[in-house]
Amino acid sequence: MNKNIVAAAASLLLGAGGIALAQDASVEDSIAAYREMLADDNPAELWEIKGREFWSKKRGPKNASLEACNLGLGSGMVKGAFAQLPRYFADAGRVQDLEMRLVSCMIDLQGLSRAEAEKNHFSTDNDASDIEALVAWIASESKGAVIAVPQTHPKEKEAYAIGEKLFHFRTGPYDFACSTCHSTSGTRIRLQVLPNLTEPAEAKPIFATWPAYRVSQGTVRSMENRITDCLRQQRMPLADYGADVITDLTVYMGVQAAGGQMAAPGLKR
Ligand code: HEC
Repeated sequence: MNKNIVAAAASLLLGAGGIALAQDASVEDSIAAYREMLADDNPAELWEIKGREFWSKKRGPKNASLEACNLGLGSGMVKGAFAQLPRYFADAGRVQDLEMRLVSCMIDLQGLSRAEAEKNHFSTDNDASDIEALVAWIASESKGAVIAVPQTHPKEKEAYAIGEKLFHFRTGPYDFACSTCHSTSGTRIRLQVLPNLTEPAEAKPIFATWPAYRVSQGTVRSMENRITDCLRQQRMPLADYGADVITDLTVYMGVQAAGGQMAAPGLKR
């Protein structure tokens, strides 16, 4: 993607002058310094503690916890599982990311309805999300694990192929694709660096650090939330929670990031 096109896209979005190519290294340095300052002390740890408790909490008509949930490595196996998600689950008949897997487990193990299970999936000012807490804890149990989103089942390969297409598919009122903003290295909108997610070296540290505590939002956010927000950046209608488009894009980015080392929850602007 030509940098001028990115700049044009971004100024449409933000008004003229909204984008600057990353010439001014000092801005990035100060963001990096800020991150370093907070990194030893990521507020996400509070979400992790809550998530760990929620995993063991008995709920629903079946009065069961999530402890028997199979995240892909076997019933109740949490360590390292997140580094291999999304993946195909035979019982669900589809590729699921962590959040959709958790919803399935809430339905199957706890007897909740889908609506009850999905309730409150993103925190609001008044309501903290249990799913975001679960995601923070489960991700933390994969710290240091190598990213290996599986590509063996035909549905996993299909999800990647669709995700790749979607990433480059220009649509919406401004004809943006994900790649309009995320396939050129060294660009940013205002102070926000736009990672080139088609480049494995850049995709690895990004994929490795979601979910993340977002300083600007004061809460942990999941990859579902990040992609939902970027679909909004693309001027697409609000996506349903767990929509296939989100899973497929996650598979695409995860496979791009193969071999990276999980370090989530991250700390982001
Ligand atoms: C109009 C530009 C634009 C489009 C289109 C766009 N994004 Fe983004 N994206 C951004 C911006 C800006 C950020 C950084 C936000 C921030 O730092 O707050 C971002 C951040 C991200 C991140 C997190 C990066 C990090 O630093 O951790 C991911 C992942 C991502 N986008 C994926 C996508 C996907 C997938 C699509 C297509 C559905 C997409 N984006 C479409 C502008 C865009």
